[in-house]
Amino acid sequence: KDIKIFSPATVANVSCGFDVLGFCLDTVGDEMLIRKTENKGIFITKIEGYDLPLKTEDNVAGVSALALYEDAKPNCGFEIEIYKKIKPGSGIGSSSASASGAVYAINELLGKPYNKTQLTRFAMKGEALASGSEHADNIAPALFGGFTLVKSTTPLDILQLPTPSELYATIIHPQIEVKTSEARAILPNHIPLKDAITQWSNVGSLVHALHINDYELLGKTLNDVIVEPYRSQLIPSFDAVKKAAISIGALGCGISGSGPSIFALSKGQKMATRVENTIHDVYSKTGIDFYTFTCKIN
Ligand code: HSE
Repeated sequence: KDIKIFSPATVANVSCGFDVLGFCLDTVGDEMLIRKTENKGIFITKIEGYDLPLKTEDNVAGVSALALYEDAKPNCGFEIEIYKKIKPGSGIGSSSASASGAVYAINELLGKPYNKTQLTRFAMKGEALASGSEHADNIAPALFGGFTLVKSTTPLDILQLPTPSELYATIIHPQIEVKTSEARAILPNHIPLKDAITQWSNVGSLVHALHINDYELLGKTLNDVIVEPYRSQLIPSFDAVKKAAISIGALGCGISGSGPSIFALSKGQKMATRVENTIHDVYSKTGIDFYTFTCKIN
């Protein structure tokens, strides 16, 4: 028995919600094939697309699958084939796509003994291997879809937030690698109270905007005074992209996860296409290889 799945890319943080907010990119993601075997254990048998470790304990999908496997103790094993489309280190949840895809598929093959929150817990083990931190803000939207908020990690509590129906995300991925562990290491341990106030006001307003379908308010909340000032320095022309996206009509723009990808949100596909064309023009002048795409948030 086997199962083929699509595991989506995701945008974590969504500017103001470091380590708690995230949303799912509907059409971009990895494909995985998971097969039940008589041999007990978790085996990564094939990885196409990018050069990643085949050893189970060194692979984020392997480690996540193992966490589930050791808990479920099934009387079988699993082989995992990964067809990687999301570039590792691109900032759109590459490791979490592998981690959440593996646990989702194995759960299906076992007859769904675990709910999505429990699956998130297993997949966080893979995220820890990739970045040194067990955050769930990419895994939760990959497993639940749409916008999610990680209310807490101990105990794990994930909230699904409503997604306005005309909301589109445009991503630009500069082809440089920013390691999440390094992008976390540059962040301060302490923050000024006035910045914390601005940030939690934005997070609360963002959640409110999603609930009342207020696109304009949503745009105003995409403001990160804590993390972006540090991480934007790792992303060439970040300020120019953000300025151009907003001046052409994007609701807002920020760093996707730990970067280097940048996301912009727009109301409607037509505006999203204009935003994509605009940031494409801006980045063409940098001489850095990049690609862009736009998709609906679902
Ligand atoms: N919240 C995480 C971070 C997402 O920004 O470091 C990256 O995986």
